[in-house]
Amino acid sequence: MALLRCLLVVLAVVVASAGLDLAEENGSAGRHVSPSPAPARAPAPSGKHPCLDNSPNMSEKTGEEAGEVVHDYGGLQCYVTGSRRSGRAIILVSDYYGFRAPKLRQIADKVAYSGYYVVVPDLLYGDPYTDDPARPFWVWIMAHSPEEAAEKTKPLIAALKKEGMSSVGVGGYCWGGKVVVELSKTEETQAVVISHPSLVVVHDMTEVKRPIEILGGERDTITPPLLVHQFEHALDQNNRVDHFVKIFPKAPHGFACRYNASDPFAVKTAEEARAEMVQWFDKYLKQHREFQLQ
Ligand SMILES: *[C@@H]1O[C@H](CO)[C@@H](O)[C@H](O)[C@H]1NC(C)=O
Ligand SMILES: *[C@@H]1O[C@H](CO)[C@@H](O)[C@H](O)[C@H]1NC(C)=O
Ligand SMILES: *[C@@H]1O[C@H](CO)[C@@H](O)[C@H](O)[C@H]1NC(C)=O
Repeated sequence: MALLRCLLVVLAVVVASAGLDLAEENGSAGRHVSPSPAPARAPAPSGKHPCLDNSPNMSEKTGEEAGEVVHDYGGLQCYVTGSRRSGRAIILVSDYYGFRAPKLRQIADKVAYSGYYVVVPDLLYGDPYTDDPARPFWVWIMAHSPEEAAEKTKPLIAALKKEGMSSVGVGGYCWGGKVVVELSKTEETQAVVISHPSLVVVHDMTEVKRPIEILGGERDTITPPLLVHQFEHALDQNNRVDHFVKIFPKAPHGFACRYNASDPFAVKTAEEARAEMVQWFDKYLKQHREFQLQ
């Protein structure tokens, strides 16, 4: 029920800004043209839903990809990078823009360098959100339930364990954050990290069973600091589970994986977010591995 309400709020904002998107379509770069006249309902500050801000440039050059795409890994197409021999896997779940986003793959490669086998599954089944005005966000999202995506991730985790991975961590961004929270309510993984999540509600935190790190942005209007602190409070009451919460100063929604690469502060913030995530996984996945070897 709470999730539905959250989704409806999201939809209301998107619907309110849909008209603007059409008007902006023929503008130059056009995405941040100030809205005029004002729509009936207040749009997000940029005139666009923050989850859809700063969409990835799919042909952006971020350097060579270290990994490859495999077509059936636990039933999912996945980008895989790093060494299987590490015996530790991290699954990264994308935002609405899917597993092809160059910056997400760059993050996966960098996490792999920290000693992990990293897998980025295509949980949107070749159908990422594309800013196509013919298919508004609220129509698109109906086909992409995060709860279902969490279920579809379980065979991937099973496949990783079958291949000898002694520990599996899962990180997620925006929509992927909700997917990861659903997985954290099971005992499938060793630890989870969510960055600027969307659709996550306070009640979710009462069901979390795995160590969870939450990375929020001070300027995130989807999951603002107030909501992150409510998550933290709910986790404090949930004494089964270790948790760590950090709010990044001046960071907008999307700061960890859809940052502006020409803005040194945004790049630094994204790097810090990645480092925090790796530290959390090091704490729970590497320790677990040593424990297993004893
Ligand atoms: C954009 O421009 C094209 C060609 O000038 C026109 O056919 C189309 O209707 C315009 N779209 C919008 C949303 O204004
Ligand atoms: C997208 O990336 C390509 C390749 O780096 C670049 O040539 C292009 O200008 C970029 N497009 C935008 C809109 O930034
Ligand atoms: C990205 O950052 C650069 C440098 O701060 C700035 O000039 C540019 O306007 C920013 N782009 C966007 C889309 O915010």
